[in-house]
Amino acid sequence: MSTSQATPPSYFDTMYAGSADPWQLADRWYEQRKYALTVAALPRRRYRRAFEPGCSVGVLTRLLAERCDEVLATDRVPAAVQAAAARNRDQAHVQVRPLAIPDQWPEDTFDLIVLSELLYYFDDAALHAVLSRTVDSLQPGGTLITAHWNHPVEDHLRTGSQLAPLLSAVPELAPVTRLDDTDFVLQTFTRRLPDGSATPAPAAAEGLV
Ligand SMILES: C[S@@+](CC[C@H](N)C(=O)[O-])C[C@H]1O[C@@H](n2cnc3c(N)ncnc32)[C@H](O)[C@@H]1O
Repeated sequence: MSTSQATPPSYFDTMYAGSADPWQLADRWYEQRKYALTVAALPRRRYRRAFEPGCSVGVLTRLLAERCDEVLATDRVPAAVQAAAARNRDQAHVQVRPLAIPDQWPEDTFDLIVLSELLYYFDDAALHAVLSRTVDSLQPGGTLITAHWNHPVEDHLRTGSQLAPLLSAVPELAPVTRLDDTDFVLQTFTRRLPDGSATPAPAAAEGLV
């Protein structure tokens, strides 16, 4: 059992024991709208390889699959992994695996990492480890996208607004998008190049500015 998580692993096991889709990610309009805004905010049209830890039942995974050549989606709960794999069975370029971050982390590098409704479960040390591993496995110029519920919840250590400045303070990440919705905060970043510069934002990349 991992110890580097403020919310105990048993919390998630219990959630999935009680429901196949504990957060009703496949049904709620709130989620559909947030997922649509999430993929709309991705600065690049296409990605080579995405990493989505905490994928739950794989609804966002399926949308990411439309924009990525390969997607590695993971969750710490086996029932979630099975549900995400079933939902994406027809997507040969989507791989779903059990993985409990940050103690377990894939070896590969990625040009897209998605941390959606996940970071508020980690205490300071674990959050630092997650962000550090994220930066290490994000290719220069690659995208990090984050989205987090902004209302106080007993099981969440931080709201989206409280996470936002912590993400913005990571020196290797250059900000691209920040969306302060009433219900959630969504941010995108690109990993800075080795000389500290940032890759062009979408308008500049197409020569508009
Ligand atoms: C609220 S759901 C978010 C699902 C999805 N990312 C989204 O945005 O809708 C959180 C998911 O993260 C998983 N999770 C929590 N802690 C995790 C960890 N340390 N490693 C991997 N998955 C984790 C839970 O099992 C759960 O499926």
